[in-house]
Amino acid sequence: MHKITYRSPANIALVKYWGKKKPQLPMNPSISMSLKNSYTETTIEPVGKTTTGISLNFVFEGKENKAFAQRIESFLSSVLPYFPFLVDYHLNISSSNSFPHSSGIASSASAMSALAMCLVRLEQQLDEPNGVFETPEQKASFIARLGSGSAARSIYGGYTLWGETPSYAKSFDEYAVDINASVHPVFQEYKDAILLVSQGVKKVSSTVGHSLMNNHPFAERRFRQAQDNITKLFSILEHGNQKAFVDIVEEEALSLHAMMMTSSPSFILMAPNTLHVIEKIREFRENTGIPACFTLDAGANVHFLYPGEHTATVEQFIQSELSPYCQDGKYILDEIGEGPEFLLNA
Ligand code: DP6
Repeated sequence: MHKITYRSPANIALVKYWGKKKPQLPMNPSISMSLKNSYTETTIEPVGKTTTGISLNFVFEGKENKAFAQRIESFLSSVLPYFPFLVDYHLNISSSNSFPHSSGIASSASAMSALAMCLVRLEQQLDEPNGVFETPEQKASFIARLGSGSAARSIYGGYTLWGETPSYAKSFDEYAVDINASVHPVFQEYKDAILLVSQGVKKVSSTVGHSLMNNHPFAERRFRQAQDNITKLFSILEHGNQKAFVDIVEEEALSLHAMMMTSSPSFILMAPNTLHVIEKIREFRENTGIPACFTLDAGANVHFLYPGEHTATVEQFIQSELSPYCQDGKYILDEIGEGPEFLLNA
């Protein structure tokens, strides 16, 4: 049997997924940009066996990792109805990230999407039927979603939509879709500098985080806001309106954190330096007229989004004005990427 290796990217949400219902379906649609330099590489080697049940071992960044192996085992059990052949093989799985584990970048999207791409490829190589799915990507997104919601979006490059919205006819809660055909060229050259304000482990797990939206006093209003922002963002992306993009993206980031701050229990995930960086970015935009903006995920780090044509000016600004607020002065220069890449079939 061949080994299968995929590289799959992290993504940064522009309209945020925050709140979910069973089975791992979003309370509102989200749109994200897939990155290029922040990715997970995963290899699966199937080996024939005679025992029953799921069997695997998992090596993370060169070391056997029993805790992760257990999580993968329970994930594989949950997707067994879609890949019944998995019980016929022992799986040697190994994985590594391009970004440091402690960087505070969520790895679940890149990790689960890389794993899902490998599983779908394995199914194809074994000539197994893929069920009701129209394309391998559709199935991979469906499977990745069951592992981590945001991973559904990492199956495609550029801009991706996950969740049903009247703004886009072919949109689904079960898997993400590629929306690049509706995106203006100005948005195809975007960059994302990830400012590592705090490199610690996340203060709130995504499971706990999403559950904070159950019985949240502002939940219904927040889900409507996200729906409205999806509609607006579609038109913005289509027409290349960079000024309006800035407004929506920053509003979404702050709404996400507002939800966390006003939930019970409440979480303040921004650090003092998060606010310093945000202020600096807004000042920079005022002074230069460059439509650069920030977004946040569920942590203190800041994603600084800007048009590629301004790279030189922005990078100089990051180095001199923003890096002093980053832990050990560290940041990651990333940009829009092309989605998962099949690396090896050896
Ligand atoms: C704040 O996808 O990590 O990054 O489905 O429980 O794995 P699970 O959650 P996860 O949540 C991502 C939350 C977010 C916003 C987003 O990426 O849309």
